[in-house]
Amino acid sequence: MKVRELEEKDLAAITEIARRALVLDPICEEVVAEKTVRAPDAFPHLGLVCELEGCVVGFVQGAVGVNTEDRSRGYIRLMAVDPRHQRKGIGSLLLAELENRLRALGLAELSVMDVPQNYFMPGLDFRYTSGVCFLLHHGFQMVHENHNMLCNIAPDQWEDLDKQAEQLSSEGFEIGRASRDEWPKVADLLLANWPAWCDEVRRALDNEPPALFVARKEDRVVAFAAYQGNNRAINWFGPMGTTPECRGRGIGAILLRLCLRELARQGWKQAIIPWVGPICFYARFCDAWLDRCFWVYRKKL
Ligand SMILES: CC(C)(COP(=O)(O)OP(=O)(O)OC[C@H]1O[C@@H](n2cnc3c(N)ncnc32)[C@H](O)[C@@H]1OP(=O)(O)O)[C@@H](O)C(=O)NCCC(=O)NCCS
Repeated sequence: MKVRELEEKDLAAITEIARRALVLDPICEEVVAEKTVRAPDAFPHLGLVCELEGCVVGFVQGAVGVNTEDRSRGYIRLMAVDPRHQRKGIGSLLLAELENRLRALGLAELSVMDVPQNYFMPGLDFRYTSGVCFLLHHGFQMVHENHNMLCNIAPDQWEDLDKQAEQLSSEGFEIGRASRDEWPKVADLLLANWPAWCDEVRRALDNEPPALFVARKEDRVVAFAAYQGNNRAINWFGPMGTTPECRGRGIGAILLRLCLRELARQGWKQAIIPWVGPICFYARFCDAWLDRCFWVYRKKL
C-alpha cells in the first residue's frame, strides 16, 4: 500500500470510488473535481490517494479554514475507500498522512466535511455507519448536527413572482439578477453580515448567467440569494441573506423563489437547501421539508 498526492489524472478513479462508497450522494465527476483537484480553494498537498497493487483504492481531500472563526482548523472535505477494499487499514493510512500534513501547518483541530467555503456535505450523514465507526475509532467526537432541507420545484410554481418583485419597487427596492460589476456592493453586504460566505457567493456570481439575485436600495445591495455557488453541477440552493433593517418585507421570499425557479428551469424537480438555517422560513415559502441529517465530528490534532 502506498499513499501519494492526488493528481488530476486520478479524477475518474476517485469519482468511481466515491460513487461506490458514498451511495447516499449524487456523485458525478464535476462535483468530485470541484471538491478536490479543481477546488477553487485548492489545497493540492492535502489531496491524497492510496494505491494498492498499482490501483487507486481510496482518497481523502483535506482543506484549511480561511475565515476568522476557523483559521486554526483543518478539514476532511471528502473521503472514501472502495467498498471492495474497506477494513484493510487504507482509510487509517490516508487519515494519518492528512493529520501529519495538517499538524505541520500548525493547525489545532480537524473537522469532518463542514468546510464553509466549499463543502459537499455539512458533516457526515449519520447513515454512513462505516464512516461513523471509523471516526469514533480514530478519536473524533460528535459536536453538533447540521441539516439539509429539500423542496419540490417547477418553473411555473409561483405565477405572480415577477409581479411581486415589481411591487417592491414602490417601497424603493429593485429586485433582479446580479451583474458581475455589482460584486463590490455584494461584498460590502457579505463582509458586514456573513463574511464566511464571500467565496461561495462570488462563485455563484461568476456562473453564466450569474446565479445570484439581489435586492438593491438606493446605492446598496441589501439582500441576496444564490444558487450553485457550491456544487455547480447539481440542484444546490443558497446561501441567502437580508440585511437586518430590511427584513420582514417579503424580500427574502421573493429572492428564494427566483433562485428556485432558475433551478426548475434547468430541469431539476427538487432543490437541496443545505446546512439550514431558518427551517420555518423555508417550510413556509417553498414548502421545504427537513431531509438529511449530518453529524459534525471533530478532534484535536
Ligand atoms: C470510512 C471509510 C473511509 C473507512 O475506510 P477503511 O479503509 O475501511 O478504514 P480502516 O480499514 O482504516 O478502518 C479503521 C477502523 O475503523 C473502524 N471501521 C471502519 N469501517 C467500519 C465498519 N464498516 N464497521 C465497523 N467499524 C469500522 C474499525 O475500527 C476499523 O478497524 P478494524 O478494521 O481493525 O476493526 C470507508 O468505510 C468509507 O469509504 N465509507 C463510506 C464513505 C464515508 O463514510 N466517508 C466519510 C469518511 S470521514
